[in-house]
Amino acid sequence: MKEQIQEKFRTLYGCDGEMFASAGRINLIGEHTDYNGGYVFPGAIDCGILAEIKPNGTAKVRAYSLDYDEFVEFGLNEEDKPEQSWASYIFGVCRETAKRGGKVEGFDTVFAGDVPLGAGLSSSAALESTFAFALNSLFDNGIDKFTLAKIGQSTEHNYCGVKCGIMDQFASIFGKSGSLIRLNCKTLEYKYFPFNPEGYRLVLVDSCVKHELASSAYNKRRESCERAARAIAKNHPDVEFLSDAKRVWLDEVRSEISEEDFIRAEYVIGEVQRVLDVCDALERGDYETVGEMMYQTHFGLSRLYEVSCEELDFLNRLARKCDVTGSRVMGGGFGGCTINLVKDELYDGFISAVKEQFTARFGHAPKIYDVVISDGARKLE
Ligand code: GLA
Repeated sequence: MKEQIQEKFRTLYGCDGEMFASAGRINLIGEHTDYNGGYVFPGAIDCGILAEIKPNGTAKVRAYSLDYDEFVEFGLNEEDKPEQSWASYIFGVCRETAKRGGKVEGFDTVFAGDVPLGAGLSSSAALESTFAFALNSLFDNGIDKFTLAKIGQSTEHNYCGVKCGIMDQFASIFGKSGSLIRLNCKTLEYKYFPFNPEGYRLVLVDSCVKHELASSAYNKRRESCERAARAIAKNHPDVEFLSDAKRVWLDEVRSEISEEDFIRAEYVIGEVQRVLDVCDALERGDYETVGEMMYQTHFGLSRLYEVSCEELDFLNRLARKCDVTGSRVMGGGFGGCTINLVKDELYDGFISAVKEQFTARFGHAPKIYDVVISDGARKLE
C-alpha cells in the first residue's frame, strides 16, 4: 500500500510528502455508552489509513483516494464542502482544526486504507484521525491528543451527520500495541490494560451486512437516551448523563417516558456496570466472566437497544453452540461484525462452523479477521 501511495503521489504532484497513519478499532465491551458518559474499552487494530501529505503553498486541498480511484480538489472555507463523502471527512477535519485556532493551509495528499468498510471497525475515525494528526504535525499546531480526537468526532457531527461519541476517534488516536484502553467518557480519564489472554483468541466475524440509514437510527438511539436522562434528572439533579443514573431511578420515571426510551435506557445502565465487571474479571484473569458479560451485552444490544440484525443474532447463537467463551455484536450495530473470545483449541472448529453454516443460511460467506491490537495515529519515518 505504501509504495502504491508514494508512486501515485509522485505522478500527481511531482514530489514526495510525509507519511502518516492511523488505525481502526475494536471494542471489548461498553457499547453505546460513550455518548452516555459511561466507560468504553477499545483498542486500535492493525488495519487503518495511510496517507502521504505535503503542504502545497495554496489555499486548496488536492486529494486522491486510491481505493475509490478519485481525485477531488476543494477550498478551505465553510462553503467549499466537497460532495464525495470520503472527501468531506478530510474537509471536516480541516474545518474543525481551524475552528480550534489551528493553522490549516492547502496541501496535496494521496491516501488508502485497509479497514473493511461498513464492518463496524471505524474506518471513518481512522481517516479523521490520520488527517487530524497529520495537519497538527505539518502545521506545527501543538494541539493535544484529546482535542485531535474531538476534531474527528466533531467532523462526524457537523459534516457527516452522525452524532457519535468519542470512542472511535479516541481509540484511533490513543491506541497502543498490545493494550486495550478503558476510557471514562465523562471525565476522559483513561487507563491502558495490557491484553494478552493466554489460551484465548479474539476474532471478528464480519456478517458483511451494511444497513442503510444506520446513521439516522444511531442518532435516534442517542435521542432516546438523552430524553431518559432528562426525565431522571428531574428527580436526581446530579444526573447529567444516563451513566450517572441508578437502575431504580429509571424505574421511577417509567410512566413518564415511552416504553422505547425505557428499554434503551435499561440497556445502557446495564452496560455501564458490565464494563466495570469486565475490568474486575480481567484483573483476576477470569476470562469466563468476561465472555459471559459479552453475551449479556449481545442480548441487550439485540433485544433492548435493537441494533442487531438476523445475521448477527445467528452468529451469536452459533458461537454459543460452539462453546465460544464470549460473543457479541460490536460497534454501532445494524450490521458489521461480532467480536468473539475463543479458546485456542476451539478456534478452528468455530471458524469452520461459522463459514459453513452462515453461508448455508444467508447465501454469502462471512469474513474472518484475527485481531492484533496495535498503535494508533502516528507519523511514519
Ligand atoms: C459507533 C460510534 C461510537 C460508539 C459506537 C457504539 O462506533 O461512532 O461513538 O457510540 O458506535 O458503542
